[in-house]
Amino acid sequence: MMNNCKAIQIGEKIFWTGAVDWSMRNFHGYETSRGSSYNAYLIVDEKIALIDTAKIEFKDELLARISSVVEPSKIDFIISSHVEPDHSGALKEIASLAPDAQIFTTNPNGLKGLTNRYGKLNFKAVKAGDEISLGKRTLKFIPTPMLHWPDSMVTFCPEEKILFSNDAFGQHLATSLRFDDENNLETILREAKKYYANILMPFGKQAQTALKALGDLEIKMIATGHGIIWRTNIEKILNCYKKWSAGTVEERAVVVFDTMWHSTEILARTITEAFAKRKIPATFYDIKKTPLAEIITDVFTSKYLAVGSPTLNNQMMPTVAAFLCYLKGLRPVNHKAFAFGSYGWGGQSIAQVEDELKAAGCEIILDKVRVANLPTAAQLEDLTEKILSLDL
Ligand code: FEO
Repeated sequence: MMNNCKAIQIGEKIFWTGAVDWSMRNFHGYETSRGSSYNAYLIVDEKIALIDTAKIEFKDELLARISSVVEPSKIDFIISSHVEPDHSGALKEIASLAPDAQIFTTNPNGLKGLTNRYGKLNFKAVKAGDEISLGKRTLKFIPTPMLHWPDSMVTFCPEEKILFSNDAFGQHLATSLRFDDENNLETILREAKKYYANILMPFGKQAQTALKALGDLEIKMIATGHGIIWRTNIEKILNCYKKWSAGTVEERAVVVFDTMWHSTEILARTITEAFAKRKIPATFYDIKKTPLAEIITDVFTSKYLAVGSPTLNNQMMPTVAAFLCYLKGLRPVNHKAFAFGSYGWGGQSIAQVEDELKAAGCEIILDKVRVANLPTAAQLEDLTEKILSLDL
């Protein structure tokens, strides 16, 4: 499907040639209520360089934008920052149009991953500090392993002071305006936090290493792989990454639960109010009503987490199991947690939730809260008292 999409100029002979995915609502399990974009960049110098491609479904949009500036066959260099197919999906198509173009990727992981996916192409492996000259401009490669795949790298152009950061500093956000200062800052920062929480949370140490490697660079623009390009709030997003990668948590609580006949919900309300009595803001999430990606974003920076499930067929509710499985994979740090729930007879779910919270790395601060059938006023009073007297 051809279209008349045009490149958007973001600097002197530097263009955004990516694609906007307005309709995407799920990115490998991460609910993306605002869509996304796959950002690719074209630099026209004595040599012409393309940084990243797009999901294969968006190759026509990518090609139309490139073609609005140059014939794709004129591309000399393709920089593949990351093997994941939202960035490399159209690599083979671009390479077939520009068969002499060299494709730069990291060694060995980028090389291995791209070869596995696309076969033998004109790859050139790079390592930390390697540079290529485009004429007036230079591109310097900085591998950022496990941020968030082994092959990941960013590219810096010192003459323009632009960092092409791929997934780092990105957001799953579809927008027709490319820069941070053209969009609502609160929305962008929330989406950047959601992106970090759902994709980068397990890699705090690697993020800190990458931030150190970028520390000496004078950056006037961060051209991300998703969402907006940072040019006005660079300090702000760098500071967010410093805070997030350090696992900084706030005096906040998240109460997340599923319920069958409202008993576990009553416990959840009591817990939420007890935290509030301690002046600890608490967010109440019925797990069926809110996407996991949103809940995880709040859990990420909240010190306290209470997870509740009734017992169904001797198990916790599948919704709660999915949440805990997702949480465990994201390896949260610095969280204090407890399990709660009501039951009809066996009541196995509450211990299962507690075990999963421990397995996710949470410190258990209150023994399992178990209530048969409907909680009594005295039980709710007792629960409130227990939370008020916790030594936090
Ligand atoms: Fe945006 Fe890890 O791909």
